Amino acid sequence: MTLELIPNPSLAQRTTLRLGGTADVEAVVHDERDLDELGCFLATHTLRPFVLGKGSNLLASDGRLDLALIRVGAGSGPLRVERTDDTLIVRCPASLALPGLLGWAKKAGLAGLEGLTGIPGSVGGAVAMNAGSYGVEFGDLVTRVRLWSPAGGLVWVAANECVFGYRHFSAPARPAGRLIWEVEIGLSESTPRSVHRQMQSVYEKKRATQPVTARSAGCVFKNPGGESAGRLLDKAGMKGVRVGDMAFSEMHANFLVNLGQGTSAQAMELIETGREAVRDAFGVALETEVITL
Ligand code: EPU
Repeated sequence: MTLELIPNPSLAQRTTLRLGGTADVEAVVHDERDLDELGCFLATHTLRPFVLGKGSNLLASDGRLDLALIRVGAGSGPLRVERTDDTLIVRCPASLALPGLLGWAKKAGLAGLEGLTGIPGSVGGAVAMNAGSYGVEFGDLVTRVRLWSPAGGLVWVAANECVFGYRHFSAPARPAGRLIWEVEIGLSESTPRSVHRQMQSVYEKKRATQPVTARSAGCVFKNPGGESAGRLLDKAGMKGVRVGDMAFSEMHANFLVNLGQGTSAQAMELIETGREAVRDAFGVALETEVITL
């Protein structure tokens, strides 16, 4: 394969919020052999590179963005399982959809990922954001991460050399333009029936409290010091508050939803309104969780 270059990629088409203008170019890596070409591409362009997963935690600005998007097409290798003493180590490509990994684990009867049911991102995104819900953080399961950078090529880094924090991941000497290429996670043996039951129960809880089918990017703000940003926004009267076609969800106040023709400018206005309302009511400064481009 060769590196595929797509001019003027639409961020609205690549994000779950369905918002955002166009970047300059998107470089799509189809397999390992394209990485050298990606290195040359990055060396010859002055555009800021941004690695895109499934776009489920992104709020991109309207209009023109001076960015080179980098995306890994679905081809960086299959799922592989190796057994250690008491754990099964699953090696999976970062480009895989997280729901795809969960579906595979369910069929294989491997437990550990159930709390992450309903998160729509990629496996790489789950590492980069240390995705978490219902008591499970992706980083808790990671044993190794394989990173690529133009200078260093592909390198495995052990999880204990990385920092997994609350919606945060960093690796030693993580150079600009790096990609999360592959991940190894440790799962435990169970049965398809038991894993299915757990996943179903998490999904039911999520469906009852979060707008799982709406166009959103998950929670907009990080939870501040043990509090729930959603609860604070709700108490400050933000549930259902709408600007144009963007609104804070009626179901969970920490979700911004695009009701149809929303714009990033409307989303940004709501973010500032929500932040001010919580600051005025509780003296708490909310930080965004969603990545703004
Ligand atoms: N609550 C309200 N009003 C609301 C929203 C929540 O009163 O509008 C109350 C709930 O009733 C509950 C408490 O706040 O008593 C906590 O709510 P919830 O269980 O929904 O959890 P959360 O703290 O709002 C976090 C994560 C979610 C994750 C859930 C479940 C963050 C920012 N949010 O939400 O993650 O799915 O726990 O584990 O950490 C995400 O990161 O995008 C995300 C959605």
